[in-house]
Amino acid sequence: MHEHDVVVVGAGGAGLRAAIAAQEAGADVAIVSKLHPVRSHTGAAEGGINAALRDADSWEDHAYDTMKGSDYLADAPAVEALCQESPEEVIQLEHWGMPFSREEDGRVSQRPFGGLSFPRTTYAGAETGHQMLHTMYEQVVKRGITVYDEWHVMDLVVTDEPDPADRTCHGVVAYDIQTGEVNGFRADGGVILATGGMGQVFDHTTNAVANTGDGVAMAYRAGVPMEDMEFIQFHPTTLPSTGVLISEGVRGEGGILYNGEGERFMFERGYANNDGELASRDVVSRAELTEVNEGRGIEDEYVHLDMRHLGEERILDRLENILHLAEDFEGADGLTEPMPVKPGQHYAMGGIETNEHGETVVDGLYAAGECACASVHGANRLGGNALPELIVFGKRAGYHAAGKEMSEAEIPTGKNGEWEPADYEFEISVGEVDSRGPAAADGGAVATDAEALLRTAVERARDRVETLLSRTGRNHAEIRSTVQETMTANVNVFREEDRLEETLSDLREAREAYQEVAVSDPSRTFNTDLIHTMETRNILDIAEALTMGALARREFRGAHWRKEHQERKDESWLKHTLVSWNGGEPELWYKPAILEGESKTYEPKVRSY
Ligand code: FUM
Repeated sequence: MHEHDVVVVGAGGAGLRAAIAAQEAGADVAIVSKLHPVRSHTGAAEGGINAALRDADSWEDHAYDTMKGSDYLADAPAVEALCQESPEEVIQLEHWGMPFSREEDGRVSQRPFGGLSFPRTTYAGAETGHQMLHTMYEQVVKRGITVYDEWHVMDLVVTDEPDPADRTCHGVVAYDIQTGEVNGFRADGGVILATGGMGQVFDHTTNAVANTGDGVAMAYRAGVPMEDMEFIQFHPTTLPSTGVLISEGVRGEGGILYNGEGERFMFERGYANNDGELASRDVVSRAELTEVNEGRGIEDEYVHLDMRHLGEERILDRLENILHLAEDFEGADGLTEPMPVKPGQHYAMGGIETNEHGETVVDGLYAAGECACASVHGANRLGGNALPELIVFGKRAGYHAAGKEMSEAEIPTGKNGEWEPADYEFEISVGEVDSRGPAAADGGAVATDAEALLRTAVERARDRVETLLSRTGRNHAEIRSTVQETMTANVNVFREEDRLEETLSDLREAREAYQEVAVSDPSRTFNTDLIHTMETRNILDIAEALTMGALARREFRGAHWRKEHQERKDESWLKHTLVSWNGGEPELWYKPAILEGESKTYEPKVRSY
């Protein structure tokens, strides 16, 4: 058994920042991650970090843009924290040596990004996340923070009281990918989940193969609600054959989108008469797919992104990485030809319900970064707002878990305050097929003292691994593909009721198939079949909650477009969707969005770009 004050799960931007903050606040902190830190998916973030750094800009303008971008579903206290603290966090990164791109006068460069009223996206070429990850990893090494890399966290160790608000998290159970050992990590201060995205729920995604939503699914099974899962961002410029991201930085620098008829459709077809290519992502993705669906796409699949007119010097200075990605993954030379692009899953606006300090409803359990929902993005995230989220909320969660005094949180978690049950009847039965099945394990465990809880949880995890390795049954890969295909076909940019219902039915079948899942590779060393099998269960739980939320939300808001409901309905839907795991049965409920900020209320307006 390993013991630390604070255990951080995940070593991307949020995990590293949380660990640094907890260590600064005096905690003995360890990071447990299924990847080596510098292989984390933050390293794939390209475009930049929004921060109001210039005199002509302000955190208030950043907050306004973010609330508008969210289609008024973000919580103002979290948004204001993000926008107030992002500048000091960027300066902190610069002091730690992050090599930002710079202007002639030495100031860090900023560029325009979609939905921003000021060019406030600070960047390091088109590899901002890579530089950020390495800069913070250097700090982790310098500070001697313990890193258990290539340990796959299987479960949280949480007490089993009936009400999640009475539960406490005491640690995690993890599987050592190098040796096959299962062991417990006790954390008396707190566990911080920073496990990143869940893009593998879809089959066309910018996310890495490791982004399987593990933290979200674990927290859910331990009683923490998933919030706003139906809001998925489809990035407008991904390479058609692989989903590899072509940064919004290309459009920020002046790149232009054309349809198959050579029209600059964002303006010429009236999708965004003011901001054109730099409208927010939900708007641009819908525009591209409309062009394709109406027969003006290229090869019935994609549109063109042209940056040739920017010139070689500027491209090499600010976007060199894009040239390599387009050439290596699509065979397109961005200097001499337009690049093919189409929308692809990129980001989950929803996640583990937290307040603005990263606290969940379970005592001692925190979440930060993409796996968390504070909520700063509401129904649509603005490009360049993910990286500041990692560092601002990673830091806050780290401080809180280490016992640093923080202000009183304004965002309630759990069924506190005003909440309402959902009034939607699903046609398909949802949730566990058989929660006693050997492939299933809740986060909760019946015991009272931390030591006993951890021992029981470790035993259970060992049994689960042995069962998966020893029995014969179905391979996870076909189940995972079924989930990814149905989600991509039916829970994409455009959504309609029948197809969402069909997806729930496909997911039901996939759950039934998962009851018989087994691992054919018996190895204890780097057994990726085993890891992927465990991840597939997480994918299933997330896909189901996401689809349930999408079916029940009968309005069109931000990235959630519904064929049958073509308006934003503020009277009835200015509220967050929550899905709670009640002994294996998902329960859907709602809580109001908080639009009151420090000194103003963000009144919902018509959102146009
Ligand atoms: O397009 C991009 O570079 C991605 C940025 C982001 O998702 O914030």
